[in-house]
Amino acid sequence: MTLKVALLGCGNVGSQVARILLDESEELAARIGVPLELTGIAVRNVDAPREGNLPRELFTTDAEALIDGADVVVELMGGLEPAGTLIQRALRRGASVVTGNKALLAARLPELTGAARDGGAELLYEAAVAGAIPILRPIRESLAGDHITKVLGIVNGTTNFILDAMDTHGSQFDDVLAEAQRLGYAEADPTADVAGHDAAAKAALLASLAFHTTFDLENVHCEGITEISADDVAGAAESGMVIKLLAIAERTTDAEGNEGVNVRVHPTLLSREHPLAAVRGAFNAVFVEAENAGELMFYGQGAGGAPTASAVMGDVVSLARGLSAGAGGGGEAQPRPTRALGIEES
Ligand code: HSE
Repeated sequence: MTLKVALLGCGNVGSQVARILLDESEELAARIGVPLELTGIAVRNVDAPREGNLPRELFTTDAEALIDGADVVVELMGGLEPAGTLIQRALRRGASVVTGNKALLAARLPELTGAARDGGAELLYEAAVAGAIPILRPIRESLAGDHITKVLGIVNGTTNFILDAMDTHGSQFDDVLAEAQRLGYAEADPTADVAGHDAAAKAALLASLAFHTTFDLENVHCEGITEISADDVAGAAESGMVIKLLAIAERTTDAEGNEGVNVRVHPTLLSREHPLAAVRGAFNAVFVEAENAGELMFYGQGAGGAPTASAVMGDVVSLARGLSAGAGGGGEAQPRPTRALGIEES
């Protein structure tokens, strides 16, 4: 038995996912119990220059044919369409989907989870929020028996990179944004980063999972960092503060005792003593407060090809283990001989 994996999109993250699937196939097969086969990569133009020296024969423009032969579809094209229609097609045909497409998820989560239910498939999207940081699975699974009261975090690497460089080196906004684009942190249209829309989509996803309901983007107050000037950053520094773009989702109670949830994204002044003030460059951090667990903090690389590919691959391996177990393929990691790991047996 071999599990067929179709990849849609080959940008910064997609090319890293393809690299891992091809270069680490033996190790992955040992961990999953069955081999994964990358059957193809759907792109708009097979001849476009791209990173990674990937075999040309893997590329196709026929995303639908690729999906129809797949057990697992990895969508990393971004954008609402055609990504949304292709994910629906995969799910309805019973193929499970891994995506990092936060804009699409924030806009159409109920419809996509419905398609997954109809097709008896799974939809996983750990890579959609905070890059490499495992945050959605802990909220959805580890804290499923608790009551989350607050989620607070830096969830956009590009804006943190910009604010940090303005604060530390006195850099100019536009120069640092160009550098963030060059390093592969920014969205294809970086307006999504600097205007706060990317963080708002992530805030909506975090809030939906944390508070067991669906938050539309229209319900998320969103203010980006486009109005933050070098003077604002310097003024904050003079008073021992730092400006960070925060995503906040918290339980509220009004004067009549009615409970609600407030979700918002905006630049916030933090004391330099605050743990989030220490989050530098494109790193992200998310605080979670729950009634019984108390305070938890998650920290790591929030953007970039390889860190985000790590989160994608976690979901792929998790789905593959389930599929392998369901098909009687074992679905369990096979312990590797210590010699294979370069460890001398005594
Ligand atoms: N543009 C996003 C960011 C990429 O800067 O955080 C990761 O979602």
